[in-house]
Amino acid sequence: MNQPRIPVIAIDGPTASGKGTVAQRVAQQLGWHYLDSGALYRLTALSALRSNIPLSDQERIAALAAALRCSFAGAVVRLSDADVTDAIRAEEVGNAASRIAALPAVRQALVGLQLGFRQAPGLVADGRDMGTVIFPDASLKIFLTASVDARAQRRYKQLIDKGFSASIIDLSRDLIERDARDMQRTTSPLKPAEGAFLLDTSDMSADQAVAQVLRWYAQILL
Ligand code: C5P
Repeated sequence: MNQPRIPVIAIDGPTASGKGTVAQRVAQQLGWHYLDSGALYRLTALSALRSNIPLSDQERIAALAAALRCSFAGAVVRLSDADVTDAIRAEEVGNAASRIAALPAVRQALVGLQLGFRQAPGLVADGRDMGTVIFPDASLKIFLTASVDARAQRRYKQLIDKGFSASIIDLSRDLIERDARDMQRTTSPLKPAEGAFLLDTSDMSADQAVAQVLRWYAQILL
């Protein structure tokens, strides 16, 4: 007999579109688990930077990804027992993450880890390929976007709140470059999954976006 599948809500979208906040709140409201798949790429990138491994060295970085010892407890992210919650959010690490995320062997090395987050009663997963590649059988797929301006403003606020310095112009340029890299790579490019609901949050609060996702989920249960 087939086991009933554990439901997944997949939320994909470009950098700083607000998917992290929305996904976490949806998970909280439903009492489900949450996967921040971008954090896994960031953790791998941080490991590579700290070990001085060139970001093009696919084999060594895939080995790092396969051996990643990390844990998530609430908002705290640990890498080999060290608290790296803030370190992985630095722009340098985000940019490095987007580079190593284009390496097929690195993506492959992180698949098992991501699938392991699918635990009862359900999972809200956020990233770039949650609905297309990692959880193609997700119950609900959302493609969450926002204008470059809105995203640069949000990222700026996040960084300043965390005590990092930032410039809106540099952030906008980085976002555009990172989007292009994510959309143009051959392995698991960023694109809406088939059947995904599109949600543009440029003029929406996080609460409104969360409410919309929950409405869509309620609809598919009917
Ligand atoms: O979402 P976040 O900005 O933390 O992700 C960091 C980088 O990891 C992204 O720029 C993207 O290139 C990559 N990523 C990915 N696939 C995912 C999640 C993130 O390629 N599922």
